[in-house]
Amino acid sequence: MQKQRLEGKVALITGAASGIGEETVRLFAENGAYIIVADVQDDLGHQVIASIGSDRITYRHCDVRDENQVEETVNFTLEKHGRIDILFSNAGILGSLSGILDLDLKDFDNTIAINVRGVAATIKHAARAMVAKKIRGSIICTTSVAATLGGTGPHNYTTSKHALLGLVRSTCSELGGYGIRVNSVSPYGVATPLSCKPFNLGPDEVEASTLEYGNLKGVVLKARHIAEAALYLASDESGYVSGHNLVVDGGFTVVNGSFSASYNLFTNS
Ligand SMILES: NC(=O)c1ccc[n+]([C@@H]2O[C@H](COP(=O)([O-])OP(=O)(O)OC[C@H]3O[C@@H](n4cnc5c(N)ncnc54)[C@H](O)[C@@H]3O)[C@@H](O)[C@H]2O)c1
Repeated sequence: MQKQRLEGKVALITGAASGIGEETVRLFAENGAYIIVADVQDDLGHQVIASIGSDRITYRHCDVRDENQVEETVNFTLEKHGRIDILFSNAGILGSLSGILDLDLKDFDNTIAINVRGVAATIKHAARAMVAKKIRGSIICTTSVAATLGGTGPHNYTTSKHALLGLVRSTCSELGGYGIRVNSVSPYGVATPLSCKPFNLGPDEVEASTLEYGNLKGVVLKARHIAEAALYLASDESGYVSGHNLVVDGGFTVVNGSFSASYNLFTNS
């Protein structure tokens, strides 16, 4: 029988109705967690829960741009389960694809409002609850390869993810004093609505493209790989890991293949 790595723990997951968040809901549920699925796509959120068929999972509408909704969602979690052990602050958008010469500042503000300000609001209210109840919880945010590398996403998105990585490190510094860990998972390209829709590509096409430009060959990055990383950071197995950006990119951000393609560096391969 599979080990229940989150047995009895209570997790709040934002952006949980689709993609990486949805897959993490499924994996956390398999591992015994009670879960609040928070998103703005209500129908999809309810569908995810119905497809899992567990009475441990509840949907809650939460637009992370609205601090009141975030606070209410945390309070709802506490009323329902009495505690919050894990926050997976995962909701995010790609934002518009415009270049800097045509930068849409409204879209810039909206991207920051969701990807940075929204995450800050979730950390604030989840951490308040953890501190008040003396829970040594785990907070995980979803950054991106665009948190450390330019040219892998639009300007608004790259800016937001760099800022988010700063937020993770900064809050790790303060919340360590309460025994609360703060980490992030940093995916390379995963075929989800976020990566498919703006480019009018299907999941197969996105996966073919990420395989082509990726460093690790023969493996297609799936939402499950990111969920597995989040599970590790949520579980007691990462008990002394904090302030870490767990990069799940097959080496993409530490390798520049253009040089080795031109020179015969690896004579055996
Ligand atoms: N897919 C990728 O290639 C990739 C790569 C790196 C990082 N990420 C990050 O992963 C996270 C999840 O994205 P995904 O790829 O699963 O995309 P997705 O579009 O499938 O899921 C994102 C979810 O966030 C929700 N959301 C959007 N705005 C919201 C708001 N204001 N309040 C609450 N929820 C909101 C959406 O409704 C959606 O369900 C994002 O933070 C994204 O930046 C994705």
